[in-house]
Amino acid sequence: MTYELELKNITKRFGPVVANHNVNLQVAPGEVHALVGENGAGKSTLMNILYGLLQPDEGEIFLRGQQLRLRSPLDAIEKGIGMVHQHFMLAPSMTVAENIAVGNPPKGKRIWRNADLASELQSLQDLFELSVPLESKVQDLSVGQMQRVEIMKSLYRGAKIIVLDEPTATLTPQETDELFQSIRKLKASGHTIIFISHRLKEIMEISDRITALRAGETVGTVKTSQVTPTEVARMMIGRDVATLEKAPLHTQGDALRVHQLCVSGDTKDRAVDDLSFSLQQGEILGIAGVEGNGQTELAEALIGVRPIQSGRVELLGADITRRGVRQRMDAGLAHIPQDRMREGLALDRTILENLIVGTHDVSPVSTHGVIHWNYAAQWSREAIQRYGIKTPNEQEKAGNLSGGNMQKIIVARELSRGPKVVLACQPTRGVDIGASEYIHQQLLHIRDAGGAVLLISADLDEILALSDRILVLFNGKASGLLRREEANEALLGQYMFGLGEEEQK
Ligand SMILES: Nc1ncnc2c1ncn2[C@@H]1O[C@H](COP(=O)(O)OP(=O)(O)O)[C@@H](O)[C@H]1O
Ligand SMILES: [Mg+2]
Repeated sequence: MTYELELKNITKRFGPVVANHNVNLQVAPGEVHALVGENGAGKSTLMNILYGLLQPDEGEIFLRGQQLRLRSPLDAIEKGIGMVHQHFMLAPSMTVAENIAVGNPPKGKRIWRNADLASELQSLQDLFELSVPLESKVQDLSVGQMQRVEIMKSLYRGAKIIVLDEPTATLTPQETDELFQSIRKLKASGHTIIFISHRLKEIMEISDRITALRAGETVGTVKTSQVTPTEVARMMIGRDVATLEKAPLHTQGDALRVHQLCVSGDTKDRAVDDLSFSLQQGEILGIAGVEGNGQTELAEALIGVRPIQSGRVELLGADITRRGVRQRMDAGLAHIPQDRMREGLALDRTILENLIVGTHDVSPVSTHGVIHWNYAAQWSREAIQRYGIKTPNEQEKAGNLSGGNMQKIIVARELSRGPKVVLACQPTRGVDIGASEYIHQQLLHIRDAGGAVLLISADLDEILALSDRILVLFNGKASGLLRREEANEALLGQYMFGLGEEEQK
């Protein structure tokens, strides 16, 4: 058969780094082809070559049997190849319609009329379920909506092949479902999709075939229907995923007590509404819920960056309701934030500097006000090694790392401080399997050593794998509290939609 697209023996080097080595990829017409692999495996590089953003050092690209020479994205677009990047490339102060149409008049029209544009965009929205308010400014959109704008932009320019580079990494589960709905519509209308991800569940759900890359090389291509998730994981990481070892539960009194807590949100008056719970030392308490039910505001109030309206928070017996962030940290609280770009890292600082923030003024990193840079560098190199952070060295700017690698830095920094209570918010979102596994093990170590973990996660598999008890949030209130043994996905799902025991029957 003739492939829709064939990449043959692609090699790409960045200085000493070989990002792609003799990579082969064959994509059939009209399929959803998953390109999978851990952070740093070479997926984005390969797709940037296909999109004309990078030139390969070696190798060839064929479109329906015809060799292509792609000098820039304009060449790729002209051939019907579109790409939605991990970091969006939209102008924030322009409207959705302006972003999509910039430089391209509506189809078949020589004279630009806004009405023609609006009707063309409307029909794309209807066909592919890509709902976004066309006259809104991009800066006012959610991440999921911005992604739809990028997809529409590709379609508007006539893309038949659409590359989605880790499109689900920053989406909520609901947004992911909506994206998958659009992907199915695109496929039904004859588009070919290359879907990049390292999340097994998604790969199994949406793809027809899978090609795995590992350390810049092609591992192989398989039919999704003929493999198990375990086999796909093995292709990605080159070994079996370890099963989590969990010691028997051994609790020792309250680590965190939350009593009748009320917190207002940005748009909602009572984002957290009269919430009470306790977290024990030696325990992982999972907070499950559909996103937007008070999780973010709860986390911010516990950290000390959002005012508490009423109620009380106790950390290891001390009332911290009115204490500041630093005081809470000094009292043994650590925080893995949800939005690592905004809260977690100084992007223009080095990895080393980011790793020692918070410990830079205490022993062993510093004594008598002097920072021991050699010690800090040595320690940073160890952390880079342990967490598998993909970077040439510790002096690299944090902003140059991929999202998953940024998250590893935050986790390494926060957990190295020997915290007594860890507030972990979506700790493995956007992180590859190997590192997720490591982060999970670290959280369990903290628990087994008598520490406490409050795990806020939208990923039910993660919640079920780690938690000793699970609290479900709905509309800022606790809609359910279960021991792990009692919990399962279906039951949690009911509580997540506010269906209490009475209604469940
Ligand atoms: N512009 C670049 N300069 C130097 N190294 C790069 C550049 N882009 C990617 N790399 C390196 O190439 C390797 C593959 O990266 P990438 O293709 O982004 O992986 P993936 O998308 O699978 O996470 C990584 O080691 C990365 O650090
Ligand atoms: Mg990538």
